[in-house]
Amino acid sequence: MEKFQKFILLPFILTASLTGLGFCSSIITGPTNATVLVGSEARFNCTVSLRWVILIWLSKGSPVLTVVNPQGAIVTSDRFTSQNYTSSTGFTSELIIHDTQLSDSGTIVCSTQQPNESTFAFLSVQVNGSLVIKNSTFTVKENKTVEIVCEALGWAPAPDITWMTNDSFIDKSRYVTKQSQGSNGLHNAMSILTLTPTDTEILTCLADIEALPSPQNATVTVFFLNSTLESEHSEDNTSTWVIVLAVVLSLVGFILLIFIIGVVIRCFCQKKKGSTYQNEIRKVSAKKKNGGHLQNSQRNGNENRGYIPEEPKYTEHIPRIVSLPPMTSKFTVPDPESYTSSASKVQPQRSTDGPISPKKIRNVTHV
Ligand SMILES: *[C@@H]1O[C@H](CO)[C@@H](O)[C@H](O)[C@H]1NC(C)=O
Ligand SMILES: *[C@@H]1O[C@H](CO)[C@@H](O)[C@H](O)[C@H]1NC(C)=O
Ligand SMILES: *[C@@H]1O[C@H](CO)[C@@H](O)[C@H](O)[C@H]1NC(C)=O
Ligand SMILES: *[C@@H]1O[C@H](CO)[C@@H](O)[C@H](O)[C@H]1NC(C)=O
Ligand SMILES: *[C@@H]1O[C@H](CO)[C@@H](O)[C@H](O)[C@H]1NC(C)=O
Ligand SMILES: *[C@@H]1O[C@H](CO)[C@@H](O)[C@H](O)[C@H]1NC(C)=O
Ligand SMILES: *[C@@H]1O[C@H](CO)[C@@H](O)[C@H](O)[C@H]1NC(C)=O
Ligand SMILES: *[C@@H]1O[C@H](CO)[C@@H](O)[C@H](O)[C@H]1NC(C)=O
Repeated sequence: MEKFQKFILLPFILTASLTGLGFCSSIITGPTNATVLVGSEARFNCTVSLRWVILIWLSKGSPVLTVVNPQGAIVTSDRFTSQNYTSSTGFTSELIIHDTQLSDSGTIVCSTQQPNESTFAFLSVQVNGSLVIKNSTFTVKENKTVEIVCEALGWAPAPDITWMTNDSFIDKSRYVTKQSQGSNGLHNAMSILTLTPTDTEILTCLADIEALPSPQNATVTVFFLNSTLESEHSEDNTSTWVIVLAVVLSLVGFILLIFIIGVVIRCFCQKKKGSTYQNEIRKVSAKKKNGGHLQNSQRNGNENRGYIPEEPKYTEHIPRIVSLPPMTSKFTVPDPESYTSSASKVQPQRSTDGPISPKKIRNVTHV
């Protein structure tokens, strides 16, 4: 029974594989060369006849994406995805390489896993570098030759450099371009244009690589100075201008110096005056304070004394009153002059208190 079944199955398998060989693996159109800027997307199409089984995309020889007939794409890396298109004539798998890197440059192969049935294309990842004309604007006199330097840095591959003047290309014999290796597999180029202007010209340096939709450019204006007379005139003008400017500047400087000195002196004087004035004020206020305080204390003392006619309690009061002068001294400490004045003022006032307690006066003068 088992042998019989195998016999029946064998032709089926054979025919299936044969038809597979005949139709499934045929690639109608393979991928085509692509040139992209680094970081952008690269897309490749591979169209196979409708009864296909498997389609494998390889980048630089390594499989990056596999598409199986009914199931669809098997994605293993986010950078390699695909889109499908089915038409009456065939199935198209579009490989999308995201965020292309310089290292992605190389072959792209579409394979149907059959011998002699793979097609390939090339991916070229390029880098749009910088472009500058080193001299900004300059003026050139009659019969004078200038060299204008245009520098391209960090390109891949090295760009083609051309020059234009007022929208017409300059002959290649008038400039020299040198290429050099930069870092990280990038290239630099430097082009030197030799020019003897006969008119004001707008010069443009253009750098081109395949991936750029239009060449990158840098421009500079070369102003032409006609006739020696004109130049002499302008020189005279500039020299007189320089003299006038120098005189004016020196005058302004002198005035500024005087002004600054004046301001400094003024400030100094004001500071001095202000300080003495403030001192005076402080003295007066200190006196007032002391006077007021003493009067208050006197009043308080008087009040207290009014309450203390008995002799035994009198001794208790002495330390209390004695403690007052130190308090006043606190106020007068910053200014010794005011202190002495207050002290002198204290004495007569205390002397009026004399009859009540002669001992107190002695204590005060001690402090
Ligand atoms: C694709 O690129 C390769 C390598 O740059 C080149 O040899 C080939 O001729 C190109 N094919 C087409 C169709 O441009
Ligand atoms: C691939 O084919 C599809 C469908 O024909 C088309 O829309 C797409 O632009 C093609 N892509 C490339 C890179 O040729
Ligand atoms: C190439 O680089 C230049 C300068 O950085 C920039 O102005 C230009 O847009 C870039 N071109 C593209 C296509 O990215
Ligand atoms: C332009 O710049 C280059 C390099 O900086 C210098 O050698 C050259 O003399 C300059 N040309 C003019 C006209 O200033
Ligand atoms: C420039 O060269 C021409 C021809 O050699 C000459 O006639 C003219 O005087 C020159 N001009 C100056 C400013 O040197
Ligand atoms: C170039 O353009 C400038 C500015 O537009 C103009 O003054 C000059 O005459 C032009 N030169 C030539 C040779 O056409
Ligand atoms: C220079 O580049 C700008 C944009 O970057 C473009 O508009 C202009 O046409 C270009 N000039 C030339 C002479 O190609
Ligand atoms: C310089 O200017 C004079 C008149 O201003 C003109 O006749 C002469 O042709 C000019 N020379 C050049 C080289 O343009």
